[in-house]
Amino acid sequence: MEAGQSAEQYMEGLYPEDEQLSRVLEGIRAQDMPQISIAPGYGRLLTLLVKMTGARQLLEIGALGGYSGICLARGLGEEGRLFSLELKQEYADLAHRHLREAGLGDRVEYRVGEALHSLEQLEREGRRFDYYFIDADKGNYPNYLEWAIRLANPGALIVGDNLLMRGKTLNASERGNAVTKMREFNERIASDPRLESVLLPAYDGLALARVK
Ligand code: DHB
Ligand code: MG
Repeated sequence: MEAGQSAEQYMEGLYPEDEQLSRVLEGIRAQDMPQISIAPGYGRLLTLLVKMTGARQLLEIGALGGYSGICLARGLGEEGRLFSLELKQEYADLAHRHLREAGLGDRVEYRVGEALHSLEQLEREGRRFDYYFIDADKGNYPNYLEWAIRLANPGALIVGDNLLMRGKTLNASERGNAVTKMREFNERIASDPRLESVLLPAYDGLALARVK
């Protein structure tokens, strides 16, 4: 390992370039969108977990440019479907374009607008999910967790990104709404009797929880 290289960088260096995902990152840069896609190692984990659980109905909260959407949809078989909730039409359009370019455009359905409204709509439609990926506005993470449990098929998996918020979560002098809600989310993931879970500290932190 080179001096100054993080454990994450060392491990990323072992993998060949993923051209589909590199195109997504380029597209995000070209549109001046925030460069905050999920870490590559966690993207690989998302794909593996879809395959390992055999999940068919996936729900992503926060599409951004489609990086995690590709990772999720790659794990699906022919019968599987990804629903992706995104606040901004232009982000959903770019994400959809990236999934189409990756040959996955027909596996995904975007719902644009406030995720809390889309979740109510999904409930009215009677939809249930096997696997969630939460990666949207941090102040709503506890609400998204509650919705995920509410719409879960038994044994559903809930994955959440950015538990550490670049270290803010660990810093007690940080008392803003988003970080306070993230602490609440982390505490609930760890202690909610309806869940079994593990919290991963690599990159910016990832939650994995199974709905009992
Ligand atoms: C940041 C990173 C994320 O993955 C995200 O979902 C939101 C914000 C960030 O580093 O600021
Ligand atoms: Mg994130």
